[in-house]
Amino acid sequence: MGRWLVTAAWPYINYVPHLGTMIGSVLSADVVARYLRLKGEEVVFVSGSDEHGTPIEVEAIRRGVEPRALTDENHKKVKRLFELWGISFDNYTRTESEVHKRFVREFYMKLYKRGYIFTEVVKLPYCPKCRRFLPDRFVEGTCPYCGYEGARGDQCDKCGRLLEPLMLINPRCTICGSKPEVRESKHWFFDLPKLTEDLKEYILNNPNLPDNARNMSLRMLEEGLKPRSLTRDNKWGIPAPFPGAENKTIYVWMEAVLGYISATMEYFIRKGDPEGWKRFWLDPSTRTLYFIAKDNIPFHTLIFPALLIASGEGYNLPWRVDSVEYLLFEGMKFSKSRRIGVWIDEALELFPADYWRFVLISIRPETKDTSFTWKIFREVINSVLNDVIGNFIHRVLTFTYKNFNGKIPTPTKLTERDKAVIDEAIAISNEVAKLIESFRLKDALSRATDIARLGNRYLNEEKPWDVLKQDKERAASIMYTALRLVKMLAIVLAPFIPFSADKIWKMLGYKDSVHSHRWQEVAEDLPSGQELGRPKPLFRKVTDEELKRIMERTLPKTSPKVTAEELSKIDIRVAKVVEAERISGSNKLLKLKVDLGGNDIRQCIAGIGEHYEPRELIGKHIVVIANITPKVIKGEVSEVMLLAAISTDGKLALITTDREVKPGSRVL
Ligand code: MF3
Ligand code: ZN
Repeated sequence: MGRWLVTAAWPYINYVPHLGTMIGSVLSADVVARYLRLKGEEVVFVSGSDEHGTPIEVEAIRRGVEPRALTDENHKKVKRLFELWGISFDNYTRTESEVHKRFVREFYMKLYKRGYIFTEVVKLPYCPKCRRFLPDRFVEGTCPYCGYEGARGDQCDKCGRLLEPLMLINPRCTICGSKPEVRESKHWFFDLPKLTEDLKEYILNNPNLPDNARNMSLRMLEEGLKPRSLTRDNKWGIPAPFPGAENKTIYVWMEAVLGYISATMEYFIRKGDPEGWKRFWLDPSTRTLYFIAKDNIPFHTLIFPALLIASGEGYNLPWRVDSVEYLLFEGMKFSKSRRIGVWIDEALELFPADYWRFVLISIRPETKDTSFTWKIFREVINSVLNDVIGNFIHRVLTFTYKNFNGKIPTPTKLTERDKAVIDEAIAISNEVAKLIESFRLKDALSRATDIARLGNRYLNEEKPWDVLKQDKERAASIMYTALRLVKMLAIVLAPFIPFSADKIWKMLGYKDSVHSHRWQEVAEDLPSGQELGRPKPLFRKVTDEELKRIMERTLPKTSPKVTAEELSKIDIRVAKVVEAERISGSNKLLKLKVDLGGNDIRQCIAGIGEHYEPRELIGKHIVVIANITPKVIKGEVSEVMLLAAISTDGKLALITTDREVKPGSRVL
């Protein structure tokens, strides 16, 4: 028997997670954890709320509440939601847990004593208006490596590279938009470069890293690691334990990753076995799994292993870091501010958890970014979950229930064909197992569905409804064979759709839960004579009407129809940007002067400041509505309205012309 620690990236708790977070970490981890338990392995599955750090502080400032009040509320809510999604955590904790805070402080004191931590007075961006230093996500600007304009102080979301705030080009404060000044502050650093050789060896000798994780890590090692700053001037966080660092807290990433250890400890303390965690962290035969999205790669393949090595405690290094690509929503990046996406609370108001689990695993972005669309959702639910799986199971159960006194029949006339079908389904189950073990969850689910396809084909060919009239015993054997397949489906689908799998199990007449059984039972006979539960349809189709309503509710709004006459009232023109500047006190608003031809220069106040630098706009030919009623915004008059669309990365894209056009030309 093997021992596994299964972990999922700890979600930031400024808001409830969305579907992308679900498939990127928690749901994928759950499927594997459930599978391993079914296999009889020893499993502990942990995660928790990532409570510290700037996104939470920013959100708390925005709402005018204390960070801790915000995280208390959200942690409770999210913990409950994960239960409703069927996530089988052994411990879902939080970074404000006492066990975690104590562990982190002791851990860093150890590193300090072992010489991996040094101090330096560094220059940092400081916002004079907000009167605070701007670490991490408090500051945004252009990535020095890839030129992405929305890079943040700790990491570039486009190329994934780790950054320090002062590396950003054109930095701005994310709270107020001001340009920061540079001030000095003393900070504590983790000597990451010291571990370069160990990390190289770890990455190169770990055969279980997916390509994206290995490549990104090697590239970063190649480019050279930099010391990583450990402390922050923020109040919200875990107080730094170093002498002289009384007013500082620990950088959120540097403590959250240690949560994997502290959450295991907490789990065993709660179980009354305070030494139990050691088997999971110190016994090298334990395999540790990390389910994350690709933006988390360097923290899990470089920083976390470096911390573990530096501690000298002999902690197990990550065995597999399963890093998926991004899930998009209808081709766009999930965005809370733009309401692009579906969040895990509203998802459950629309459909049961198993529907979501099934669809999300079916489109899991294992090798490339994939897009969730409502069309795909309907397709997968209607023609796979309902028509293939639900239909097969329901056919078998209702027919047997009705014609064999509600009991599992005795197979007295099994043919070679029946045995071959059973063997084939067992073979498929074994393949599903292999696929899960190689973390190809999407293929595993699709292969599991083949058992139902096989079953439907078998029934159509054997026609038990005809056979029943002449040879009831033979019909009994056919239904027994089909029921064997239903049982296999209950087991192999248990990791994916745990609620439905258990319903199937109970309809087969078992009194206990399928989740307390073993995967190996796919090859075992059924107890003839066992009373079946009353069959009920497991799933239902998504109707067009329903889908339409949902799309109206969850997709960015489309407008009502307009007549040609109404349309002709709108004066749309090409305009050339001749001046552009920021409006002070706002990071959203830009003041533009646009030329509409014939000396008609007008002012436009546009909310595009987070997406464009004034400089890059000058000279651009953009498209504006020239006859809006002028509006005063922040004391400035806006006479025209410019047109823009949301780009695939969730930013704004201005509508421009692709040939030379004279300013003032009408758009037809
Ligand atoms: N909160 C981080 C995110 O959502 C993930 C933290 S994972 C942990 O990107 F390792 F730090 F726990
Ligand atoms: Zn500011």
